[in-house]
Amino acid sequence: SKLEMFVDELPDMPRIHGYKLVHGVPKPKSLRIGMFHKKWKFHRDLPPAPVFAYGVNKRTATVPGPTIDAVHGVDTFVTWLNYLPSKHILSWDPTIPTAIPRSKIGVPTVVHLHGGIHGAESDGNANAWFTNRFNETGPTWTRKSYHYPNYQQPGNLWYHDHAMGLTRVNLLAGLIGAYIIRHPSIEAPLGLPQGETFDRSLMIFDRSFRTDGSIYMNSTGNNPTIHPQWQPEYFGDAIIVNGKAWPRMTVQRRKYRFRIINASNARFFKFFFTNGLGFTHVASDSSYIEEPVTTKEFLLGPSEITDIIVDFSQSKNDTVILANNAPYPYPSGDPVDESNSKVLKFFIQPSREVDTSRVPKKLIKYPQVDLSSVSHTRYIAMYEYVSDTDEPTHLFLNAKPYEAPATETPKVGSTEVWYVINLTEDNHPLHIHLGLFKVLDQTELVKSEEFKACMEKLNDASKCHVEKYARGKKVEVPAHESGWKNVYKMMPGFMTKIAVRFGYIHTNASYAFDATDEPGYVYHCHILDHEDNAMMRPLKLIK
Ligand code: C2O
Ligand code: CU
Repeated sequence: SKLEMFVDELPDMPRIHGYKLVHGVPKPKSLRIGMFHKKWKFHRDLPPAPVFAYGVNKRTATVPGPTIDAVHGVDTFVTWLNYLPSKHILSWDPTIPTAIPRSKIGVPTVVHLHGGIHGAESDGNANAWFTNRFNETGPTWTRKSYHYPNYQQPGNLWYHDHAMGLTRVNLLAGLIGAYIIRHPSIEAPLGLPQGETFDRSLMIFDRSFRTDGSIYMNSTGNNPTIHPQWQPEYFGDAIIVNGKAWPRMTVQRRKYRFRIINASNARFFKFFFTNGLGFTHVASDSSYIEEPVTTKEFLLGPSEITDIIVDFSQSKNDTVILANNAPYPYPSGDPVDESNSKVLKFFIQPSREVDTSRVPKKLIKYPQVDLSSVSHTRYIAMYEYVSDTDEPTHLFLNAKPYEAPATETPKVGSTEVWYVINLTEDNHPLHIHLGLFKVLDQTELVKSEEFKACMEKLNDASKCHVEKYARGKKVEVPAHESGWKNVYKMMPGFMTKIAVRFGYIHTNASYAFDATDEPGYVYHCHILDHEDNAMMRPLKLIK
């Protein structure tokens, strides 16, 4: 039976302040946020589904979890607490590198604040996992309470699970939430729509459901003799926004701000409005762009964030649907169908008061990358391996497993150029912890089969004369993605050049923590099914 679309109201997730006000002045705060096994209703006509949900307590826990509001320069401490049952609600695969408690009891979890600039001990290292009440902890676990200095530029982050080999199933089960760093003295003068009604976070992901309402995930792998359960990409046919399938939202004929987070495992979205209404981008993942950019459609890969203003006073109609037409897997997979092409329907009502918000001509300007100061250039090659049946068995960066010693060891405060060479057929959203980067260009690889054959033998871009191949067509970085990012879509058959800054972008100040601490950071593909098996590598900062 088909589920009716646009029947549930779009939820607003509970909001938690990551600071306390003392005589009107924000001061550091410690939070305790738990992970709970509970039931969540994804649609009016679906029975509630078992989920794992973040919350201050079980009763108020939600999928996604509460939105944490932090203030620039004011520390937030979070003790993440695991109250999950002894067994997972979804099937996982012990044949990929996975966190497995010695007792075989409990669900390993660890929380990463995506886009956050913080110490390695607070980064949620994949092996720093812990089970219910810290009964068991992983090999790199050191502390219960995480410290987020919030000293970076204002922007949009999100928190989610990062346990070794379980990230895809822990997020599928519901362990995600939004986190905003605000900088009132810089942001208020911009005049953008603000307040709980007009400034909203939208966490969007795809899921499939069984008729009993529970989350459906195929539990047989593509290569069952090698990996009994692992599948190269999870796709669901229902599109969920803030925990409801194809919700509806009543809006006023005025401007709204939407912070859109693609929290899917593997689905890319190409968003557009069915009546041609435009989007005005003001920020991307974790930082503002220099000036607003208007688009009619935009592509958002897994874990990417865009921050847009939508002016419903410009809508020709009283209803408009936010829609999607990105094939899956992206870019060469199946076209969308009726169900996964619809996202959210807006019902536009007359504005109740004058809209005093505006979109200024200039937003926030950060220093440009200084290519003359680049201290190191690296090649990062993306490989996919297949079995005799031509089904993927695993994916690696630089042909190395996660456990191989760190090869990416940038200096604290330095800027590096990374050439990311995608030798696979899929687009991979590459995410770098701690660093922020600018995408400089994407160049098609000519005679790519010849180059790929060499790379598969030597795994060395210089020895394979990459300069002979990286001279095809150039694809420009869209204006709304020309700012500082922490994740970007690496096109298949292309070499993407990025400049990564391992230091703050808004100041030359050094970190308020030691970035060279153990266990270091990671960088990885943010298609969670790839990250888990094992398109992830350590990133070790040095002095
Ligand atoms: Cu959003 Cu390493 O993750
Ligand atoms: Cu990938």
